[in-house]
Amino acid sequence: MRILLTGGAGFIGSHIALLLLERGYDVLILDSFVNSSFNVINRIKTYLDNKDLKYNLKIIKGDIRDKRTVDNIFFESLKESKPIETVLHLAGLKSVSDSVTNPLHYWDVNVGGTLNLLLTMNEYECHSLVFSSSATIYGLSDSIPMSENHNISPINPYGKTKVAIENMFDDLYKSNKNLWKICSLRYFNPVGAHPSGLIGEDPIGIPNNLFPFITQVAIGRRTVLNVYGDNWETRDGSGVRDYIHIIDLAQGHLASIDYLNSNESCLEFINLGSGKGYSVFQIISQFELSTGCQIPFDIQSRRDGDVGVCYADISKAKKLLGWAPKKSLEEICLDGWNWQIKNPNGYT
Ligand code: NAD
Ligand code: UD1
Repeated sequence: MRILLTGGAGFIGSHIALLLLERGYDVLILDSFVNSSFNVINRIKTYLDNKDLKYNLKIIKGDIRDKRTVDNIFFESLKESKPIETVLHLAGLKSVSDSVTNPLHYWDVNVGGTLNLLLTMNEYECHSLVFSSSATIYGLSDSIPMSENHNISPINPYGKTKVAIENMFDDLYKSNKNLWKICSLRYFNPVGAHPSGLIGEDPIGIPNNLFPFITQVAIGRRTVLNVYGDNWETRDGSGVRDYIHIIDLAQGHLASIDYLNSNESCLEFINLGSGKGYSVFQIISQFELSTGCQIPFDIQSRRDGDVGVCYADISKAKKLLGWAPKKSLEEICLDGWNWQIKNPNGYT
C-alpha cells in the first residue's frame, strides 16, 4: 500500500517514515527541507539497511503549495499502478513566535498547502487522510485533562491555522458523508528520539521547547535552562505538560491508518498524548536521574502565551484506535539523551 507522507523529513515525519517502512508500506516523502536536513533520509536508509530490510522509499523535494508538484506525485503513482491510498500530512510551519511575526506565511503554507493537497487528493479520488493538528488549538484550560470536546480557542496564528484546517475538514466531510476518511490528530508534546539514536529532534537555532533545550544544556551547547515561572498553580509551581515519546506518537499514526482502512467514512479529531502531566521540575529531575547529567537552571518570569497545566484525556484514542502510549518518562529521557550524545550538533 502506497502512502504519501508530507513533511516526512521533519522530526515527527522521519519517525513515522521509519515505522511505516519497517511495516512494509511503500512510502513517498514530499518535503521542501525548509526545516529539515537531507541527512535524515540517509539515516532512515542506514537503519533499514542495517536490519537487512527491503523497502520502498521515494523522496520528492518540493513544496506542498505547488500544484504541479503535488499533481505529479499522484499522476506518476497512478501511472505505476500504485495509486496513493492514504496521505499523512505533516508538512507545515510550527513556530508560535514566527507565526506571530509572519502570520500570512503561516496561513499560506499551513492552510494554503493543505487546501492544495485536498484539491489534488479529490481529483485523484484519494480520500483517506491523517493530519497533524495540535493541542495548541485548545483555549485556556477549563477542564483537565483536556478531552476533544474542550473549548477551541487558539491564541496565536499558528494555532488558528490548525483550527482553520480542521474546519475545512468539517465542511468537506459534511459535503459528502460517504466519501472522506479523516483523522485529525491533536498532538500534545512529542519528545525523545528513536532508540537507535539515528534520528531525533534537531531544532534550528535556540530551541523554543523544553526538552531539546534540556538535552542541549546537558551536552554543553547551552549553559543554563530558563524555567518560565515557578508560581503556577501546580504542585511545585512550574508548568505542567503532557510529554509523549515520539515512537508512541508515530505508532498512533499507524493505528490511525488501520482505523481508516476499517471504516467506510469518518472524520475524527483525536488527542495523542501520554495522558499524564509532568512539571518542568519533574522533567529536570527525571532527566538528571536517568542520565547522570546536571541541568543548571534559572527561574524566569512566565513566558507569554503559556498556560499552567495542559495534558490530554486520551480515552478516545484508546477506544477508537486501540492505541495506548507504552514508553515511560525514563525512556523519553534516555532516548533523547542517546540521540543528543551521538549527534551533539544534530544532523550537521
Ligand atoms: P518539522 O518542522 O520538524 O517538520 C515539518 C516538515 O515539513 C519539515 O521537514 C519541513 O521541511 C517540511 N515543510 C515545511 N513547509 C513545507 C512546505 N511548504 N512544503 C513541503 N514541506 C514543508 O516539525 P514537526 O515537529 O515534525 O511537526 C510536524 C507537524 O506536526 C507540523 O504540521 C506541526 O505543526 C505538527 N505538530 C508538531 C508538534 C511538535 O511539538 N513538534 C506539536 C503539534 C503539532
Ligand atoms: C509550545 C507552544 C505550543 C506548541 C508546543 C509544541 C508556546 C507558548 N506554546 O507548547 O503552541 O504546540 O510547544 O511545539 O510556545 N519551558 C521552560 N523553559 C524553556 C522552554 C519551556 O521552562 O526553555 C516550560 C514552558 O513554560 C512549559 C513547559 O516548559 O511550561 C513546556 O514548554 P514547551 O516545550 O515549549 O511546550 P508547550 O508550552 O506545551
